Amino acid sequence: MSYPSITFRFALFLSFSLTASSWLPPLPLPLFSKRYAPSSSAIRKATPSDLLSVLGSKPQSSGVNPGVARQLKSCFKFLVPFSPVQPCHRKLGRPKHSGPTQREENELIWWPPEPVLELARLAVDSGGEPAAIHRLLDPAIISVPDCEGSKENRCQLTRTPYGRRFICQELNLYLQFLFQLIVDRGPSVGLDVTLNRFDLFHGHLFLALDSGRLGILFHAKEYPAYDKQVFPYNMGYCQRGSNVTYNDSMNLRNILWLAPMPGDSDESWVAPGVLVVLDARPDGIIYRDLIPDYVNFARTIYEDDLGDVAVDVNYLNVGSETGNYQIFIC
Ligand SMILES: *[C@@H]1O[C@H](CO)[C@@H](O)[C@H](O)[C@H]1NC(C)=O
Ligand SMILES: *[C@@H]1O[C@H](CO)[C@@H](O)[C@H](O)[C@H]1NC(C)=O
Repeated sequence: MSYPSITFRFALFLSFSLTASSWLPPLPLPLFSKRYAPSSSAIRKATPSDLLSVLGSKPQSSGVNPGVARQLKSCFKFLVPFSPVQPCHRKLGRPKHSGPTQREENELIWWPPEPVLELARLAVDSGGEPAAIHRLLDPAIISVPDCEGSKENRCQLTRTPYGRRFICQELNLYLQFLFQLIVDRGPSVGLDVTLNRFDLFHGHLFLALDSGRLGILFHAKEYPAYDKQVFPYNMGYCQRGSNVTYNDSMNLRNILWLAPMPGDSDESWVAPGVLVVLDARPDGIIYRDLIPDYVNFARTIYEDDLGDVAVDVNYLNVGSETGNYQIFIC
């Protein structure tokens, strides 16, 4: 908010110094750069809202301090090319044949199928009210079966021992699609990730605090293996037997999906969907400003900082060896 005034003051200074220099000796250069170097205004903290705005509509993103925006962008590793297109009315159906091409997968992120778009609009129209999401869940309760030996380790992976699904099957399928796409494309940005109960199995579906925009914050590398040297943290029953190595790929464990952002009219959209890995490398702004100190070793961005969490979305392998992955919404 105060950025414009800094620009303004800086501009004033420039014009002052230009005028002044016509009748005063020029300022010594070191003094000039020391007192007025832009670095003094660059120490600005990024907020969760900045993060979402940079990925939002034009007016949203242009409201973010340019220095902050630049640093945030340097921490984005897009799994699907970022496509801040013009306001768009276009809506794509699903590809007709099975096995979508890369291009079709991208389009499913930019402009998801109709039921996802409806959910995205509902989230915003409700004023960011999680109950609007809850009403679309099938009331039928499904108990969460054992997942990869979790029960025998007394590990409960999900917030509740039972889950639900969306009434609309296409929404459940879309969630599966997101998990799969993260796994398929993670390696393209350096994120080696597997769908299992120690690594990627959940995300938090939220409605953004200021805009109501629908999103999911996925957490990969959930239970790194205990290691005296590199990860001396006991995380309880669910960590036992973990084969997740704690190394630099922890920096990439926060993965953000954002639904397209609806515009004011019934048909318009002001930003396409986004799928991005948020790089929390220690010298970046995400680590510095968006990861709470007490979990910095785990590189966790908290979903509650981004929005009101409506549900957790779990994708669990409840089959035997073969792999039978199912969605449980808790
Ligand atoms: C870890 O174990 C899971 C099964 O529990 C397996 O799917 C995965 O490939 C393993 N990952 C590594 C890196 O060995
Ligand atoms: C982290 O460890 C995993 C498993 O050993 C390995 O596949 C991966 O390449 C490592 N990643 C980095 C960034 O070191």
